[in-house]
Amino acid sequence: MELLQRALLTAFSTLTLFYVVVKLSLGYWKRRGILHAKPKFLWGNLKGVVGGKRHVQEALQTIYDTHKGQAPFVGCYALLKPFVMVLDLELVHNILVSDAGYFTSRGLYHNIQNEPLSGNLLQLDGHKWRTLHAKSVGVFTSSNLQKLMPRLLEVSKILGNRIGDQKLQKLNVSQLVDGYNVEVIAALAFGFKGDQAEFREMSRSYWNNFSLWRAYLALELPLLARLLQHTSYDELAANYFYNLVHAQLYQQRLRDRQPLQNFLQLYSAPDDALSDAQIAAQAFGFILAGLEPLNATLGFCLYELALQPELQDRARNEIHEVLQQYGGQLTADSLKQLKYTKQVLNGKYCNSLQDFKQFISFFIVETLRLHTPYPFLLRRATKEFELPKSVFVIARGNNLIIPVAAIHRDPSIYTDPLRFDPDRFEAAAVKSRPAMSFLPFGQGLRGCIAMQLAEQQLMVGLVALLQHHKYSPCADTQIPLQYDNRKLLLMPKVDILLSVECVDI
Ligand code: HEM
Ligand SMILES: *[C@@H]1O[C@H](CO)[C@@H](O)[C@H](O)[C@H]1NC(C)=O
Ligand SMILES: *[C@@H]1O[C@H](CO)[C@@H](O)[C@H](O)[C@H]1NC(C)=O
Ligand SMILES: *[C@@H]1O[C@H](CO)[C@@H](O)[C@H](O)[C@H]1NC(C)=O
Repeated sequence: MELLQRALLTAFSTLTLFYVVVKLSLGYWKRRGILHAKPKFLWGNLKGVVGGKRHVQEALQTIYDTHKGQAPFVGCYALLKPFVMVLDLELVHNILVSDAGYFTSRGLYHNIQNEPLSGNLLQLDGHKWRTLHAKSVGVFTSSNLQKLMPRLLEVSKILGNRIGDQKLQKLNVSQLVDGYNVEVIAALAFGFKGDQAEFREMSRSYWNNFSLWRAYLALELPLLARLLQHTSYDELAANYFYNLVHAQLYQQRLRDRQPLQNFLQLYSAPDDALSDAQIAAQAFGFILAGLEPLNATLGFCLYELALQPELQDRARNEIHEVLQQYGGQLTADSLKQLKYTKQVLNGKYCNSLQDFKQFISFFIVETLRLHTPYPFLLRRATKEFELPKSVFVIARGNNLIIPVAAIHRDPSIYTDPLRFDPDRFEAAAVKSRPAMSFLPFGQGLRGCIAMQLAEQQLMVGLVALLQHHKYSPCADTQIPLQYDNRKLLLMPKVDILLSVECVDI
């Protein structure tokens, strides 16, 4: 009897404690007297997201649509974790660019002791990030990217060759672009030319051991998680990438000076070279940060072009016109010349990356706007920040979320936002929009370090795909296309399938 009573009492007090903790956590914004989206018990503002009923982007979009214009930012909760959602584009500029010194952290979990691969630029914060960032800026330079171009062009040949001159009723576009992107990363990041099957398998399976609850606890209580030696990636895949880099570096050091072929060479350049473990983490960073968005962008872009054949023809004609001057070959020079498929981005969007004045495809930027692979950016305030000309304060340690995809679909910035229309990126149209209204690569100190590389890879891939082939929807194409609710990134829910035929012009 007494035992039962004790058990009931314990259960009751545990439940009460749980209830109090949840209520206290979800009372954060109310206590601070800040406008906030009303949270649901336990889920905060992510009800339906954890169970896969809706994409996290939908939840963010709802908060943005409901509160935009009412305040510079609004409070919200990811489960029990309070976030500042930034609504005002001037405040976005403060956070990413002019006052970026207050927001140098992203707040992701890393554990270098137990998981060396987590020591990459995306996951690190603080002084570890700072040193690595300084080194990486010297690695991702225009001149290095230029030198790596021949290798990229070589790999891109597989795209056209894989389809050849067959007419296919059902081409697995996801598989095709995945093959290209994986091979580029294997070649450029790992200097790896061997059999790609295992590499490809590992690039898919490193999330196999993912558990949402463990990941959430690691974000909330990183010190405890490190004490418990929590790691994020599947051990088999992590070891594979780690050992691959190790072996490649060993081989490389046996050889005499080689022409520049990959990023391992750059990261292991003699002056203040990184340790092998640090280099492995950077190579893994290409897969972690780059593979899915590259995949998604090329896939979505082909899908949109298949639905609008006039646009597709316009792009192909332009490609042919330019390539004709270069004997039909895609080269570094011909790529620079592609006029119609590309566009000078107005300086005000790009001034964060020094001397960045890059041509970029109309089609690719419009794909990145409409199907923004990273639908939001994250920052953490490392110091208290008082908003200029305002009574509001962002407290030290507050986590911030910048709802990029919602901004990209704001009808007051982009009319008829769900329509795919590359002409939005005509120079005059770009100038008429406010700064910070186009952020697929983030911006500022912690913006995507590989933006230029990614654009190059996407441009080369798109040209190779469109040069000799025409794509159209087939019976199995999912229209309209849906996003995969189980992913944080905007990825297609099912593989993109199109019919394809060879065109001879
Ligand atoms: C279409 C392709 C890509 C897109 C859309 C993309 C987008 C982004 C975005 C939105 C961020 C966060 C920026 C911010 O917080 O302001 C980011 C960061 C980053 N990206 Fe990319 N990315 C792409 C490709 C790549 C590739 C190929 C790499 C290969 C190295 C890469 C490496 C990184 C790294 C290391 C960071 C963290 C930078 C830092 O915190 O210092 N990304 N990317
Ligand atoms: C590449 O993207 C496709 C969807 O476009 C996806 O099915 C595939 O799993 C992706 N591969 C990786 C490694 O993310
Ligand atoms: C497309 O290719 C991927 C990768 O090889 C494969 O897993 C998937 O089943 C294919 N999808 C379809 C619908 O054939
Ligand atoms: C999966 O995660 C658990 C818990 O962190 C860990 O003990 C286990 O070793 C991991 N397994 C693999 C194959 O990575």
